[in-house]
Amino acid sequence: MPMKTYADADGLEFTASSPDSANKFADFTSSYMGFRRETGAILKDITDADPDMPMARCAKGYLAKLFGSSNHSARANVISADLNDHIKATNANDREQRHAAALTAWCAGDLDKTTRIWEEILLEHPQDGLALRLAHFTHFYSGDGRKMRDSMARILPLWSKDHRNYGFLQGMYAFGLEECGQYEKAERFGRAAVERNPQDAWSVHSIAHVLEMTERHEEGIQWVAGLESDWSTVNNFRFHLYWHKSLYHLERGEFDAVMRIYDEQVSSDIESNFYLDICNCSSLLWRLEMFGIDVGGRWKALVEVAKKHLEDKDLIFLTLHYLMALIAGGDKVAADQMIEGMQNWSTMDETQARVCGEVGLAIASGMQHAREGRFKDAVAAMEPVRYKLNLVGGSAAQRDVFVMIMLDAAKASSDALVARALFAERLGEKVHSSWTW
Ligand SMILES: [Fe+2]
Repeated sequence: MPMKTYADADGLEFTASSPDSANKFADFTSSYMGFRRETGAILKDITDADPDMPMARCAKGYLAKLFGSSNHSARANVISADLNDHIKATNANDREQRHAAALTAWCAGDLDKTTRIWEEILLEHPQDGLALRLAHFTHFYSGDGRKMRDSMARILPLWSKDHRNYGFLQGMYAFGLEECGQYEKAERFGRAAVERNPQDAWSVHSIAHVLEMTERHEEGIQWVAGLESDWSTVNNFRFHLYWHKSLYHLERGEFDAVMRIYDEQVSSDIESNFYLDICNCSSLLWRLEMFGIDVGGRWKALVEVAKKHLEDKDLIFLTLHYLMALIAGGDKVAADQMIEGMQNWSTMDETQARVCGEVGLAIASGMQHAREGRFKDAVAAMEPVRYKLNLVGGSAAQRDVFVMIMLDAAKASSDALVARALFAERLGEKVHSSWTW
């Protein structure tokens, strides 16, 4: 089909075979920003109707990369190579070519370059919601709250407040602010976003983080529960909001409630092998155990999923959570295999490989030592990297599990002075934490 240039309602130009493709792509972007379940289906409609549209092909590669696993990455590599061959034959515009280059860089493991390309696209095309949301994702998995925050601060003044997706921007900005510890401002932006659209799960989530970090656990339970009928309409991200709810209950010592939410929600779709589900589950079970709760045979199902990811070399944050399941679930062979894979990964010239070497391996070894009762070795492994923990990505609330594991080992070790120091550190931030006290 002959390709022409068509613009969507925001004036963003697409090379496509019909104006419909450009408009549908805008729908896809909105759906992706809202974690809507139909996101994949919308893209499939576009690729079925307009298989040569460069941005549709690129988005297919992006979605594959977003799964953060070796088999999906292998698929993304093929899509990216095809796109690079194909793009020369189309009259793809500069923005589309840059997106193709971002996908290429992502497939090559150069996450820094990937994010830089998206940010460069946004300088010229601030209305490119896909570049904007993807940059938010990779800033998040680089553990860089300031970049998350500033990426949105640059864009917000350039968007009309009447834009249908403006609330998503407010929510992303809120999340960046929260990760920078600017809780009041974060709360203002997050609440404004949720007021616009209570189904905007990421914005609901920004406030959930504010309430977690400011230790407003009762309010957190009310906040998440009050909006449940809205945010629970989104994709598996909804289970992460149940995870947040569990954290509030955990701090309040309401372990039965945590177990119930774990069984009914957090772990309910573990078979679908979505990375965030495993992250939620591993970190919640390990936390429960550190609170002295017997989690029974719950690790087993996580081990089965984690074993599918022994070769993953995408995001260190995910790898560490798979490893948690293998270690805690007692599959030493698989855990050793995963750590060996991490050692190989750390020698590669890739963004996340460097983080794996700099911080990931230390956490991995600390977790293994801690689980096998070598508490002093666990502290010795983890303590030197505790100020670099943010590099593994994810949120401060998520990374807190690694801090807790280190503290738990310090408590069990015979080094009372180190333990006292580390617990005092955590109390400095979380004054009311029942677990720390
Ligand atoms: Fe979260």
